[in-house]
Amino acid sequence: MSYNLLKGKRGLIFGALNEMSIAWQVAERAHEEGATIVLTNAPAAMRLGEIHELAKKCNTIAIPADATNLTDLENVIVKGMEQVGGKFDFILHSIGMSPNVRKSIPYDNINYDYYLKTLDISALSFHKLLQVARKHDAINEWGSVVALSYVAAQRTLFGYNDMADAKAALESIARSFGYIYGTEKKVRINTISQSPTITTAGSGVKGIGSLIDFTDRMSPLGNASALECADYCISLFSDLTRKVTMQNLFHDGGFSNMGMSERAMMQYDKSFDEGQ
Ligand SMILES: NC(=O)c1ccc[n+]([C@@H]2O[C@H](COP(=O)([O-])OP(=O)(O)OC[C@H]3O[C@@H](n4cnc5c(N)ncnc54)[C@H](O)[C@@H]3O)[C@@H](O)[C@H]2O)c1
Repeated sequence: MSYNLLKGKRGLIFGALNEMSIAWQVAERAHEEGATIVLTNAPAAMRLGEIHELAKKCNTIAIPADATNLTDLENVIVKGMEQVGGKFDFILHSIGMSPNVRKSIPYDNINYDYYLKTLDISALSFHKLLQVARKHDAINEWGSVVALSYVAAQRTLFGYNDMADAKAALESIARSFGYIYGTEKKVRINTISQSPTITTAGSGVKGIGSLIDFTDRMSPLGNASALECADYCISLFSDLTRKVTMQNLFHDGGFSNMGMSERAMMQYDKSFDEGQ
C-alpha cells in the first residue's frame, strides 16, 4: 500500500544484490512511495545482473561503486545526482561483508587482513560515504541517511564474528557524523538494527537457521521481515521523523529487550528433565 510518503524526494540506495536483499525491498517501496531513486552496488555484484531488473522496475539506472573506494563514491554521488535531477533527500547504506565469516574462520583465530576488510566494507564505508556526500553538498536539508545494523553490536551472539565489531563501529559513526551533519545541515543519520533475515549476507552467519528460530520465538512480535524493514526505512526517509537522529533503532519484534520468555523457560525446564 502506498501513502505517497516520499513524493518528490530523491534517493540513493546501496546494496540491492537480489530480491532477498533488504535494499531491494527498500528500493521497491521507495519507488512505490513516489521517490525518484538511483541504485548502486559493488562492480562484482553488478555483474551478477539482477540489479538491472530492479533498476528497470524502478525506472532508473544502477551505477557501480565499491563503497570502500573514495573515487567510486565520488562518481556515484555526482552521477547519481545527475540521474535523479538534484541533491538527495535520503540515502540507504545496506552493505556488509566479512571474509572471516565467509571463510568460516573463528573469532579467536581471526585473519587480521580479512578483519580490516570487514571493517572497511561494513563500517568505514559508511564514514566514507558521508564524508564524500558532505564534500559535494549532496544531501538536502532535513535529508535522512540510514545504515543497517545488528544487535550483535551490543550483545554477544555466537558466530557473528568480526561483524559484531564492524556493527559497533557503524553505529558509532552514525552518532559522530549525525552530530556534525545535523548541526550543519539538519541531515539526520540513524542505524536500524534489524532481526536476522534470510538474505545472501545473512546466510553466511554461522547457525543462521537456529538463530532465526530462536529470535522469532523469543520476540513478542516475532522476527521482522526484509519488507517490514523496508517500511521502517521509508518512515525514516519521510518527513514524519524529522527530529530522529543519531539513534540506533531496534527493528526486531522486541528481541533486544528480552531476557527470558515463558515459552523459553518451559522449553528449558523440559530439556533439563529429559537430560536427567
Ligand atoms: N540479513 C540479516 O540477517 C541482517 C540483519 C541485520 C542487519 N543486516 C545488514 O543489512 C545490510 C544488508 O544486508 P542483506 O542482509 O540485505 O544482504 P545482501 O547480501 O543482500 O546485501 C549486502 C550487500 O553488500 C554489498 N557489498 C558488499 N561489499 C561491498 C562493497 N565493497 N561495496 C559496495 N557494496 C558492497 C553486496 O553486494 C550486497 O548487495 C548489511 O549491512 C547487513 O549486515 C542484515
